[in-house]
Amino acid sequence: MTTPIPQPPSVPFLGNVGNIERDVPLRSFSLLAKTYGEIYQLNLVGRHVLCVSSYELCNEVSDEKRFQKRVGGSLGEVRNLVADGLFTAQPEEPNWGIAHRLLMPAFGTLAVKGMMEEMRDIASQLVLKWERFGSEAHIEPSDDFTRVALDTIAYCSMSHRLNSFYTTGPPEFAVAMGDFLVECGNRASRPRIVQAVMRGTNAKYEADRKKMRDLADSIVAQRRAHPIPKHDLLDTMLNSKDPKTGATLSEESIAHNLLTFLIAGHETSSGMMTFMVYYLLKNPETMRKLRAQVDEVLGDRPVQYEDFDKLTYLVAVMREALRLSAPAALRNTVSLEDTTIGNGKYAIKKGDTIIVQAWELHRDPAIWGDDADEFRPERMMDGKFEALPPNAWQPFGFGLRACIGRAFAWQEVLLVMSTVIQKFDLSFADPSYNLHLKQTLTLKPKNFYIRASLRTDRG
Ligand code: HEM
Repeated sequence: MTTPIPQPPSVPFLGNVGNIERDVPLRSFSLLAKTYGEIYQLNLVGRHVLCVSSYELCNEVSDEKRFQKRVGGSLGEVRNLVADGLFTAQPEEPNWGIAHRLLMPAFGTLAVKGMMEEMRDIASQLVLKWERFGSEAHIEPSDDFTRVALDTIAYCSMSHRLNSFYTTGPPEFAVAMGDFLVECGNRASRPRIVQAVMRGTNAKYEADRKKMRDLADSIVAQRRAHPIPKHDLLDTMLNSKDPKTGATLSEESIAHNLLTFLIAGHETSSGMMTFMVYYLLKNPETMRKLRAQVDEVLGDRPVQYEDFDKLTYLVAVMREALRLSAPAALRNTVSLEDTTIGNGKYAIKKGDTIIVQAWELHRDPAIWGDDADEFRPERMMDGKFEALPPNAWQPFGFGLRACIGRAFAWQEVLLVMSTVIQKFDLSFADPSYNLHLKQTLTLKPKNFYIRASLRTDRG
């Protein structure tokens, strides 16, 4: 006998759409998990989804023999821009396999190590800006980390300078992308008939889409016209063959993947760095310990690749920030068979969509203890991280469809954050600030401002 899966009361046609708030959908999913428990079901304008949040269930649906990523909801809408690019491809689409096999080595640790100086180039633009602005300026870290992350992925992967630090407002491309992603989220829960009459919104969506696509096309055309002697990711896509099939990526597919890198590679890393700064400011003792380690390892000199292994406390801070605030907190998977989960307790049908709630998974007291809500990097070091049960910490997703940019993001964040901690005293612009969230495709702190002043405590 299986147990019925609870569902909040729904209304005809729209189902449970009213249960999910527009601004920060994650808040609603967290509330529903608190109210209905480790599993509940929703009807989102006719789309039936199950949501799981306990470690036991999240671990079970992370079994790739029984469950597989399926792109739907807002991610499905992102396909209007990037179609079957790496992030948004359905599992059966052949371009995913070709791009995956071509690009996995290009995103490997060794290849990423070779990008160190390009990453430093962009990080130094952030340092210069904060130095010049001085301690009186109110800095929105999520804005500047977005500049860093966007320029870093563009420069490292396609040798293209977006020069986001040299624009007055937020970079034009980032605005178009942010607006596009927000509208993708809205479209996912909007009836088609309503969508069709929203002429102004649709025109803006198309204009944003065109702006981004034009940029990708111009980068590819420029490279074709003026090849450079550099083996970056764009070069790999233009000139390499799939080792398995011998196929090359089409021009269309290259543009889709360039845009995929820009989307997947900037909001996530910038969100991660912003959450780190927030948690460090809220926990002065952690900041003090981190500063002591950075000073001991680096002194006054620029960080080198070889230092990363010694920055163990910084690594623990990174892991812990990703645990409490995974920027990509909800992912979809689909059941490949009629089955049960939770030791036979809940019946799942073949084709059922399941949302994995990483925000709750990362707070399950069964894994993280009674202080799961506290920011405590010590739980992520001295062998404790390695001893975690499988799939307990999954800010980068899991399995075949896990993040291809993990090594890239890791190196970028190590470089930027060790440099920031080495050079600046950071403080809240408003000391009473508590975390508010902002959600597009990913999450980041909202209305969070800091001050940054060059350190005076070192000779
Ligand atoms: C996939 C998180 C940085 C590119 C994913 C997934 C997650 C994730 C959770 C799986 C999504 C799913 O199952 O639907 C993160 C986080 C990052 C980060 C937390 C930074 C802190 C990057 C960077 C890139 C990138 C820098 C660079 C290009 C991708 C791509 C995929 C992906 C292409 C799709 C892989 C596939 O399905 O084959 N990421 N990501 N990510 N990520 Fe990242």
